[in-house]
Amino acid sequence: MNAPSDLRMTRIPLNHGAGHMPALGFGTLIPDAALTITATRDALEAGFRHFDRAERYGNEREVGRALQAGLAAGGIACEDIFVTTKLWNSNHRPERVEPAFEASLDRLGLNYLDLYLIHTPFAFQPGDEQDPRDQNGNILYDRGVTLIETWRAMESLVDRGKCRAIGLSDITLDGLLSLYESARIKPAVVQVEAHPYLPEKELLEFCKQKNIVFLAFAPLGHGMRPGLLEDPVISAIAARVGKTPAQVLLAWALQRGTALLTTPRTAARARENFDISTLPEDALDEINRIQTRQRLNEVVKTGVPGFIPQSR
Ligand SMILES: NC(=O)c1ccc[n+]([C@@H]2O[C@H](COP(=O)([O-])OP(=O)(O)OC[C@H]3O[C@@H](n4cnc5c(N)ncnc54)[C@H](OP(=O)(O)O)[C@@H]3O)[C@@H](O)[C@H]2O)c1
Repeated sequence: MNAPSDLRMTRIPLNHGAGHMPALGFGTLIPDAALTITATRDALEAGFRHFDRAERYGNEREVGRALQAGLAAGGIACEDIFVTTKLWNSNHRPERVEPAFEASLDRLGLNYLDLYLIHTPFAFQPGDEQDPRDQNGNILYDRGVTLIETWRAMESLVDRGKCRAIGLSDITLDGLLSLYESARIKPAVVQVEAHPYLPEKELLEFCKQKNIVFLAFAPLGHGMRPGLLEDPVISAIAARVGKTPAQVLLAWALQRGTALLTTPRTAARARENFDISTLPEDALDEINRIQTRQRLNEVVKTGVPGFIPQSR
């Protein structure tokens, strides 16, 4: 990893010479269309150069429009930003992968992608319905396709120069191990929930050994309160180093060698979340000793997306 003195500029190399990922990423899981546009513009202006999107978020068009306008206004070259999107569960059949990829590109207004991820390892019934369910409300899974078959179609996108790197999201270590063994093009990135309450140490260790970028989502515990932002250890460190709890959590994530995605929704929060600096070793040790364990998002177990916290 390239870890410069300015933590915000950390860039992590992708395997197969697919360039570098800016470690500090902005996520676009924002249900409101107007807010998606302003938050994306604000993130770009604050300095974020890595943008994570997904077919399933339903706002690729808004993010694309916000980025085009923001790049033009800021005189920023398209090559200076890193863009990811994700293949949804109902498009796992190999013949659906390229059309889904092209549809995402079209909505984003791009002609290539830096990174394309399989959003979850769970295949849903193929089709345009993103949340297919039976009359009892149970998800209709697709038993007619395996993850490696979907992966082969992803590999073909790289072979044909359509995207630079491919990876997986919401995968367990076991799932990653078996895919890794069979993959011709090894995953470049794994995107999973990670924060001090869910450090995913074994998965991170495996990723480091294999030069896979570990990309953490929910680094602030999805902003849930009570939660990480009010954790006494985090708050005490924040007071000691003169930073906010959010800045402490983001710095911890980068300093342990992960990339991250955070979702500030206002300009002030975007500036705050970008304005991070290196924590002293003793602060990192204190955070590593936190004993609380909590998974916030069950998507890794079912493929059903997200969580709308009851407390918000
Ligand atoms: N692969 C997957 O299945 C998956 C799942 C979830 C997320 N993701 C990706 O990861 C991204 C980040 O996830 P996340 O939304 O959970 O990230 P997060 O940064 O942990 O949480 C975001 C929430 O924290 C609050 N927040 C942001 N900055 C703050 C600050 N400085 N101080 C206090 N609160 C702050 C905001 O809530 P308020 O604005 O409401 O206060 C915001 O909604 C998503 O946008 C998406 O791209 C992927």
